[in-house]
Amino acid sequence: MKTQGGSDAAKRRAGRRAAADVEDGSVVGLGTGSTTAHAIEAVGEAVADGLDVRGIPTSFQSRRLALAVGIPLTDLDAVDRIDLAIDGADRVVDAPGADAHGALLKGGGAAHAREKLVDAAADRFVVVADPSKLVDALGAPVPVEVLPAAHTVVADRVRDLGGDPELRAADRKDGPVVTDNGNLVLDCDFGSIDDPAALAADLSAIPGVLEHGLFVDLADATYVGTDDGVEVREY
Ligand code: 5RP
Repeated sequence: MKTQGGSDAAKRRAGRRAAADVEDGSVVGLGTGSTTAHAIEAVGEAVADGLDVRGIPTSFQSRRLALAVGIPLTDLDAVDRIDLAIDGADRVVDAPGADAHGALLKGGGAAHAREKLVDAAADRFVVVADPSKLVDALGAPVPVEVLPAAHTVVADRVRDLGGDPELRAADRKDGPVVTDNGNLVLDCDFGSIDDPAALAADLSAIPGVLEHGLFVDLADATYVGTDDGVEVREY
């Protein structure tokens, strides 16, 4: 689930710092959410100033914003590589020395399937966050995108793994959230997640699961916007 804390100023600092890494002639993955939106806006400003870049959006939301700010877009199957992906996160494990250091929980905006596809394909994946996202260990429910026909059987398998699945309900529509891919989301509460890599593998192995929100060993760095600057964690 999305965190409610975090100032917009801190998100803005993180997003703009990541946008400054975008190089001329590059392909950039455009993540989803309020923090990444600042990065997309900053890339749009750079494009207006002459930067040559092509963006690959990870959601309807990031595509609309990128078009609005004038970033030329392309697709994953039209490029040889993605140089840099910039994306937000709902939780970032900030525990130097721990195996899970740098692991992420994503999917608060139900965009994690395309986000993981793009973030994993990038040469460098930078997470943009504010301090409210930093945790010692993961413990929030894990978003799991499922084929609609599979939601009950996947829920049963999640219970077998010790989780408590809840079909994500829409806010301004009767019934469930439907993802950009036409699927449903189960938010699966496993309590404290001691071994995110093992749980990630177990969830990926369930038939009917399109993607889950555990991003383990994917991020190269996290830029944390603070009250007066940006802290960089390299992994
Ligand atoms: C969407 C995501 C977002 O990156 C995540 O929810 C963070 O969003 P925000 O920057 O608005 O807090 O995973 O699926």
